[in-house]
Amino acid sequence: MGRTDERRADGRWTTGGQRTGGRRTNEEKNMSEKRFVTTSTDETIALGERLGALLQPGDVAVLTGDLGAGKTQLTKGVAAALGVTDDVTSPTFNILMVYEGAQMPLYHFDLYRLDDASQLEDIGFYDILEGDGPCVIEWGEQFIDEIGPERLDVYLTRLDEQAGVGEEPPREVRLVAHGARAEELVAGLA
Ligand SMILES: Nc1ncnc2c1ncn2[C@@H]1O[C@H](COP(=O)(O)OP(=O)(O)O)[C@@H](O)[C@H]1O
Ligand SMILES: [Mg+2]
Repeated sequence: MGRTDERRADGRWTTGGQRTGGRRTNEEKNMSEKRFVTTSTDETIALGERLGALLQPGDVAVLTGDLGAGKTQLTKGVAAALGVTDDVTSPTFNILMVYEGAQMPLYHFDLYRLDDASQLEDIGFYDILEGDGPCVIEWGEQFIDEIGPERLDVYLTRLDEQAGVGEEPPREVRLVAHGARAEELVAGLA
């Protein structure tokens, strides 16, 4: 493997063995990962709507990103697709908001203020995970073991380097599927 190492023009090392492995991983990734860039709040909401249209009871989306990245805006879109008419806000002070949709409820968690996994039981988290509507979880990455292996991870990032001074940057929305159902969801997003 060491013999096929080469120094690329950009100064990074590429490794023959790793490159082969990398290619295989990329093929797997293509099935279970998708990346979008949205250039406005409305575009993020629209992407959320496309995701929301696919969601079924028991589906879990974990939204990860800094404050202001767009997690709640994406959730607004998800809610709209489910026929929720109530205004969707960050549930930070409530931990859980339940929105009544046309066919099913949407469970919107914000686990930012939760500091112990044992509190999840108290808020009915595990029942809701297998409940009658999909779950969108903000700040869930700290409880990923409790959320479990079947989930769609959604990473939102401000692309600050792509914005001029005083301009709102575009957002990268990267979806990573864990489990067969989440792969279906990613595949379903054109
Ligand atoms: N492309 C974009 N996608 C999402 N939000 C955007 C975008 N451009 C600007 N914004 C603004 O950024 C803020 C995102 O807030 P919010 O969704 O509450 O973030 P979070 O829930 O991740 O803390 C909103 O004020 C929204 O209008
Ligand atoms: Mg939020």
